[in-house]
Order: sequence, then C-alpha cells, then structure tokens
Amino acid sequence: MKLVGQAVLVILVNSVAVGLGEVVTNFSQTCSLFFSNPNGVVTPPDVFPGPQYRQICQKQANQNVYEFATLYDSVNRIPVFSAYEYVGHKPCTRKDVWYFEPQLDDQNKGPSMAPESTVSKAMRGNNQSLGSDYEKSGYDRGHLYPVFHTNSQSCADSTFTLTNAAPQQPSFNRGEWKKMENDLVKFLNENCLPNQAYVVTGVVPSTSPPVFVPSGRVNVPTHFWNAYCCLDNNLRPMFSGGYLSTNDKQKGQSFNTASALEQVLSNLYPSPFHVFGGKC
Ligand SMILES: *[C@@H]1O[C@H](CO)[C@@H](O)[C@H](O)[C@H]1NC(C)=O
Ligand SMILES: *[C@@H]1O[C@H](CO)[C@@H](O)[C@H](O)[C@H]1NC(C)=O
Repeated sequence: MKLVGQAVLVILVNSVAVGLGEVVTNFSQTCSLFFSNPNGVVTPPDVFPGPQYRQICQKQANQNVYEFATLYDSVNRIPVFSAYEYVGHKPCTRKDVWYFEPQLDDQNKGPSMAPESTVSKAMRGNNQSLGSDYEKSGYDRGHLYPVFHTNSQSCADSTFTLTNAAPQQPSFNRGEWKKMENDLVKFLNENCLPNQAYVVTGVVPSTSPPVFVPSGRVNVPTHFWNAYCCLDNNLRPMFSGGYLSTNDKQKGQSFNTASALEQVLSNLYPSPFHVFGGKC
C-alpha cells in the first residue's frame, strides 16, 4: 500500500514539476523515507532557497526504488548533503563505475542516474561535476552516502554518482573519515533499532576564499560532517550525535547530540541550519 501511494505521488509531482522524475520539487514528498520522522513528523534537513539548489531522489537506471536523497548545489557542483536510512551493512563489490544526474544539465533526460555520455557535450557538466574534474586533481571523490553504510549491491552501486561526491583530501578520506564511518556502523548496530536509524552526511563549501579543483569548476569544501538520529518504536528520539571535520587529516570533533552539531553548522552556513529540525 505504501509503495503504491508513493508511486501515485511521484506521478502527481512529476506532472507539475519543471523536470521529470528524479530531480524533484520537494523530496520530502517524493522520497520521504530517507528522512527521520521524530514523533511521526517527516523532518528533512533545511533546504537552501533558490534554483542553485536541486532536490534529488536518487535512483539507478532501470530500477524502481529510490536509494537515498541528495540536496545538490549546482553552482558549486557539489552536494550540500545526502540523507539515508541506515539498515545495516552487508559486504558488496565496489564496481567504481561512476554516474551523474542527466536531468541537472538537460531536463529532457532522466529520470535516473546515468553515464555522462547520455548528455550532449554542449550541455554536459554545466550544472554538475564530471569525472574529468576529479581526475589528476589531487582530490578523492569523497562519498557522502558511503558504500560502507549500504546493505545491498544495488544500493552500493547507487552511491557512485557524482552528485553524492565532493572533493576530499585523500589523507582525510582514507584516514579519519573512514574511521568515523566504521565507528558509526558499530554504534548504530549496537544501539539503534534496525529500521529507525537515519543518517545525513554533508559538506560546507569554501567561500572565503572559495577554493576549486584545478579545472576551476568544482568547489573544494572546507568541512565534511555527519549526523545521525535513532528513534524508538514509538518514533521518539532515542540517540543522536554528529561529527565535523575540516577537509584535511586533522582529527575531527564529535558531538553527543545532533542539536549541538546543528549549532556549529549554523555558523558555517550562510543561514541557520537544522539537520533533524532541532528535534533529535
Ligand atoms: C514539502 O512537502 C512537505 C510535506 O508534504 C511540506 O510539509 C512542505 O511544506 C513542502 N515544502 C515546500 C517548500 O513546499
Ligand atoms: C543549468 O544551469 C543554467 C544556468 O544556471 C540554467 O539556465 C539551466 O536551466 C540549467 N539546466 C537545467 C536542465 O536545469
């Protein structure tokens, strides 16, 4: 029943939206299942206003399920955040085949992630990063929704979209950040209910001064962050927390509540920012 209702909603939203399918006007309607719902209220992270920010319900080609949600900054060509439900980790194969979001460049394309070749050269990459922006740039394609937090091959594959990645210092990606991803899996497995753990991972773009990868097209974030919210069976907040680090190999900062992280993020973003509506 739930799925049928969702499918109907997708069609309704599509018929009024600018683009078709996956880039949507309101992702808390189209793919609400990736956002925590403390006390029964679906509470997505704050969305910055303006056409620069695009809401994506992430879906692979030829699949009918959404895997996670991303708010994408099409000017800086990096995500603001990816939101997902943590339902346990199962080992899977890293295929390292990268996709992007055709609809960001050409609204007649879509409605799912696809290879870059699906968009004409003239439009390709106008509103998003390309693999070539990262090649020999000195930066990793840092996953926001990490492979390590997925529990199926299809879900793992879907994290390899450039709209889910931002330039990350290799020493950080493979060091402290990787450790945080491992620690978080351990914590969520031990403390949270299987279907009540919500995670949001985001980045803060560099602004003063803005720093770009060598191609000049993709912003190098100053910070990477991560927040989680676990609910009990009555949807009451049970545990929350977060992590924030500068984009280098220095040790990051952990937070005992998501609200504490939200306060710090509010000073890093141009406007106050809530990951879980301040409710977790
Ligand atoms: C998006 O949809 C939700 C749920 O229907 C609604 O509460 C919210 O106001 C909508 N947001 C915008 C910006 O229209
Ligand atoms: C891409 O960005 C340009 C410039 O901001 C905009 O005019 C265009 O509509 C965007 N393309 C799509 C498909 O949204």
